[in-house]
Amino acid sequence: MTESLYPVPAEWARKALVDAERYRALYRESLDDPEGFWRREAQRIDWIRPFSRVDESSFHKADFAVRWFADGTLNLSANCLDRHLAERGDDPAIIWEPDDPAAEGRTLTYRELHRLTCRFANLLKANGVERGDRVTIYMPMVPEAAVAMLACARIGAIHSVVFGGFSPEALAGRIRDCDSRLVVTADEGLRGGKPVPLKANVDEALRDCPGVSRVIMFRRTGADVEMKEGRDIDWAAAMDAAPEDCPPVEMGAEDPLFILYTSGSTGKPKGVLHSSGGYAVWTSLTHQIVFDYRPGQIYWCAADIGWITGHSYIVYGPLANGATSLMFEGVPNWPDPSRIWQVVDKHQVEILYTAPTALRALMREGDQWVSRTSRKSLRLLGTVGEPINPEAWGWYHRVVGEGRSPVIDTWWQTETGGMMIAPLPGAIALKPGSATRPLFGVEPALLDAEGREIAGPGEGALVIKRSWPGQMRTVWGDHSRFFETYFTTFAGYYFSGDGCRRDADGDYWITGRIDDVINVSGHRLGTAEVESALVAHHSVAEAAVVGMPHEVKGQGIYAYVTVNAGLEPDAAMRAELISWVRKEIGPIATPDVIQFAPALPKTRSGKIMRRILRKIAEGELSSLGDTSTLADPSVVDQLIANRTLPV
Ligand code: WT7
Repeated sequence: MTESLYPVPAEWARKALVDAERYRALYRESLDDPEGFWRREAQRIDWIRPFSRVDESSFHKADFAVRWFADGTLNLSANCLDRHLAERGDDPAIIWEPDDPAAEGRTLTYRELHRLTCRFANLLKANGVERGDRVTIYMPMVPEAAVAMLACARIGAIHSVVFGGFSPEALAGRIRDCDSRLVVTADEGLRGGKPVPLKANVDEALRDCPGVSRVIMFRRTGADVEMKEGRDIDWAAAMDAAPEDCPPVEMGAEDPLFILYTSGSTGKPKGVLHSSGGYAVWTSLTHQIVFDYRPGQIYWCAADIGWITGHSYIVYGPLANGATSLMFEGVPNWPDPSRIWQVVDKHQVEILYTAPTALRALMREGDQWVSRTSRKSLRLLGTVGEPINPEAWGWYHRVVGEGRSPVIDTWWQTETGGMMIAPLPGAIALKPGSATRPLFGVEPALLDAEGREIAGPGEGALVIKRSWPGQMRTVWGDHSRFFETYFTTFAGYYFSGDGCRRDADGDYWITGRIDDVINVSGHRLGTAEVESALVAHHSVAEAAVVGMPHEVKGQGIYAYVTVNAGLEPDAAMRAELISWVRKEIGPIATPDVIQFAPALPKTRSGKIMRRILRKIAEGELSSLGDTSTLADPSVVDQLIANRTLPV
């Protein structure tokens, strides 16, 4: 495979915060003298009581812990707001671009964001929320979502943001798992001109959540929604009555900041828990050095706050750095595929961070949608969420950036809190498809099937050898699941779940998940989650779900379904099952293919052989491998004969 190389442009090497030499020196220091390195780096955060201890983590069973700066205290909302007021109180903190390009946007200065946050924090307190309580946030992409998050951080409540695209069932499960008493929502969201019935979804979810006693509802569209007396509170009216003074609470560095649910290879979604101190240091540091961010620059992370990318790189990282963070309510292809580039021109965006799936979708529409816009303001382009194919990378670089802007491919996870492997634009030569080098303090390794470290070039399971400040601290309510999930596959290492190749230059190439997780449009889904949704339907006896290659989404969902005896599966049942899964989980889990199968390939001990199902879904029929260990090898021929194509 020939790899193209894009050297660091001379101007970047000269002006960037971190050049090649500095990267090498700092990276070495971060591994050789982590104590000194982090003691200094952590000064980017205003601590109330300085920490004396730095890293007290261990990945080994006997003394397992993830703990940083443990005796320090801080408040992250004060770091994101109060400390900027004197110098840049009137600078824009959030620029909000609404769904409809003809509608009026909003700009919130740091002072205004601070004022709203204080008011909302008081409103939460007035409704009984105390330090350590969980607050579920189910909001559209409006500044009030960030206000709700920051207000929780201010009073030490733990927020759990649930993506607005999740179904009432999925929302209810997440509310119950962390036992939230209060839900923050909006009447409706607005995406691509279509309303999303958030309040109605909350009402439905709360039928199964008796613990919730309050719902605070922001009016986004003014839709006529039901308000339940004694439970539901109108945001605007209550905010008017809330006092404006709300001192930030002194939090321990290891006190929980938020829970964010994410899918794994087994069971229900896990509540990934992040704490305050290390997360603040990690998101602030990575936002600054990877985007080479300088105050005053307009920065746009086009993710949703329902995902970790939105938490770390729309809200906490940029605001801790005093940045101007653009928040976009809409979608890339509405009203037309020029929308993203028009927003770039309108707000003179300098740094853009988005997902490969969006680029692939826009690339298909043709270059004319891009070339009719200026984009002269852009100086840096980033991607995240899934492997970027070299074609999409090249298009981003050549057509969108006109060759002027580095394209930064950033690898990380909900669990890592922030970026882990990414090229610093002034330091590292770029290779399309490679996330290149580890950031400071990140010590990756590749392991072979026996768990031995691969030296030099090679391919294996991607693990991290030591803790970093942004690492998740536990799975909410299930600390042993935390250890089991990440530290037992390879004892003594954090296992990412990803496969990865390291080339002769030492650059890392993520090859994708090697566990039972699929990545649909940069959204993570457990195959087990989709399977349990399917078998919950009264017609389904058994289901097995695997990923399949998909041109735009990266991966699609391929489901093999066995129906109950006596039923005759048909097109109507297929449609019914597809809408059933959408209802159970949400539209992101919509199966692309449902293949009805009289039987699934199983070993004699009854284990489904997913390897074979994956190959069939991928259309790789000539490389099915050994099928002789199957209880009934003829099942495979049947599956191949009935291979189903996406609808
Ligand atoms: C999984 C994590 C990182 C925030 C958004 C997704 C995949 C992520 C890349 C990348 C190749 C990537 C991995 C990872 N992934 N970034 N640059 N190149 N793969 O967070 O939902 O926790 O998903 O996304 O498979 O494990 P997430």
